[in-house]
Amino acid sequence: MEQSIEHRDKRGNLVIIRPICNHDVAPLREFHDELSEETVENRWFYNYSFGLRTDPKRLLHQCTNTEKGFALVALVEGKLSGIGRAFFSEPQGCIAHVAFTIRDIDQSFGIGTILLSELTSIIIERKRNEKKRRITIIAEVLRTNKKMVGLFQKQGFTLLCRGYDDTLHVEKSLSI
Ligand SMILES: CC(C)(COP(=O)(O)OP(=O)(O)OC[C@H]1O[C@@H](n2cnc3c(N)ncnc32)[C@H](O)[C@@H]1OP(=O)(O)O)[C@@H](O)C(=O)NCCC(=O)NCCS
Repeated sequence: MEQSIEHRDKRGNLVIIRPICNHDVAPLREFHDELSEETVENRWFYNYSFGLRTDPKRLLHQCTNTEKGFALVALVEGKLSGIGRAFFSEPQGCIAHVAFTIRDIDQSFGIGTILLSELTSIIIERKRNEKKRRITIIAEVLRTNKKMVGLFQKQGFTLLCRGYDDTLHVEKSLSI
């Protein structure tokens, strides 16, 4: 995705989806400052501190898109309100791990669904360009995270329980 794409959320607000870039470092600090403990735990599975999440080196690294992974941001009425990430891994880069964070006041208005759909389109486009035939999109989600589990189910992901911990593995294989 070179340019931004416009959507509307369930409130009718303008949502712009575009690739993350270096200019997002400062807005990202503000974004992290607004995340509730519950959101942080749902995303990282523990109380990942604000200081560590917003370490300047980490943020700068996260704002760089590479062959190994990329991120999209969602701007709601001009404000950074969500991030969706994808990382590629073996075998042969045909697995894409995805993860999302939407700031609390913008949750449940369809923005996570929009990000997953745009992220999926880019994953498919990249892998087609690499002449791959299949891609499996995967994620780890807390069992108690009803919203994210519901969102993945709605998008046709399979839920797998692996062991007795608090997480579910979700995945969807696509012929491309
Ligand atoms: C999880 C998250 C990314 C979802 O994004 P969102 O914009 O809030 O979600 P959406 O509005 O697009 O979709 C939510 C879906 O959850 C489902 N849902 C919501 N509440 C639910 C519940 N109690 N039980 C089951 N499903 C539920 C619905 O299917 C809904 O889809 P609908 O639009 O058809 O009703 C966002 O809430 C978030 O950032 N949460 C905190 C961090 C996190 O959990 N990250 C995920 C780690 S992989």
